[in-house]
Amino acid sequence: MAQAKLYLLAALLAKDGVISQNGKAVMKELILARDPELVRLLERFEDSETSSSDASLVNSINCLLESKAFEMLSDLYAECPLEVAKSLSKADRQGNDNKSLVYGEVDFSSFARVVRKLKKKRFYDLGSGSGRAVFAARLLGDFDECTGIEILDRLHDAAETIRRAYDKKTRALVVNDRVRFVKGSFLDYDWSDADLVFANSTCFEDDLMDQLARRAENLEPGAVVITFTKGLPDDTSTFHVVHRKRYKMSWGPATVFVHVRANDDGTLPDGDFDFDADDDDEEEDEEDEEDDALLTRDRELELALDREADEKQLKNSHDDFKHLQALVRDLD
Ligand SMILES: C[S@@+](CC[C@H](N)C(=O)[O-])C[C@H]1O[C@@H](n2cnc3c(N)ncnc32)[C@H](O)[C@@H]1O
Repeated sequence: MAQAKLYLLAALLAKDGVISQNGKAVMKELILARDPELVRLLERFEDSETSSSDASLVNSINCLLESKAFEMLSDLYAECPLEVAKSLSKADRQGNDNKSLVYGEVDFSSFARVVRKLKKKRFYDLGSGSGRAVFAARLLGDFDECTGIEILDRLHDAAETIRRAYDKKTRALVVNDRVRFVKGSFLDYDWSDADLVFANSTCFEDDLMDQLARRAENLEPGAVVITFTKGLPDDTSTFHVVHRKRYKMSWGPATVFVHVRANDDGTLPDGDFDFDADDDDEEEDEEDEEDDALLTRDRELELALDREADEKQLKNSHDDFKHLQALVRDLD
């Protein structure tokens, strides 16, 4: 396919909302670079013998764009993998056995399967850790703004360090580029302008979930709240659970709850909330609560081990972080 035709295809797909504006920008880069995967994919489509449907072409393009987004995210986090973030979290939690602070990270492809369905504008991650979900949302969707709120200093500082690397390396490739990190408790910050809220809440204590739910009532009808393992407490009749399914995460399977803020009369706002329609994962749901309970116990064990963290562990985490900061200084 000629380059001009490909640009047109990218523009049309983005205009129809089939790929995101970010996806269009990345696709243009791929066309310019004559990316072999994209070339192969289009050749297959043009080949009359093996020619597949438009839907399958769109699906393949979206898979390719998602894998490119994942590459960009992995590149950003090359120096701050899960283990480094965990040790930063542990260093900040010395002597604090608040279970809500236990660290874990969202799995990119599971997150993508939920987020790509929701065409939203203002994303908040409540408890953003090193910021991985904020950047994943940034690279996957067309949000006007993506904000992470994290209470632990070192994790917030790591997210800010990665944001500076993003400004230098990745931002030019992204259309809507606003990313913010706020240090503090999401209970003390006003996020009522959000239309997509994410909380990796597997370890959040019930009291924190209750307070989160009360604040979520201030969201506009149609806003979506995604939580893990625990849904918003039942007494919040202002929310409809439109999706509940187990997905793979960095620590194992977790149940993902997608809630939609109801209209004032309690009805479900309009929207496409059929997450299962394009979901080919047949994973059984039956034992999810049991698995999540096991997971919570595992994380309690992790907390107990944290308390035994020795001096070496603490020193290593400081070294890890210094290394991360030095790398960003080198970029300047
Ligand atoms: C399981 S981690 C999730 C990290 C990230 N959102 C992800 O999914 O990759 C939960 C995070 O919430 C943070 N956290 C817990 N309570 C919080 C609060 N009240 N305000 C802000 N952050 C909080 C913890 O410190 C931890 O970093």
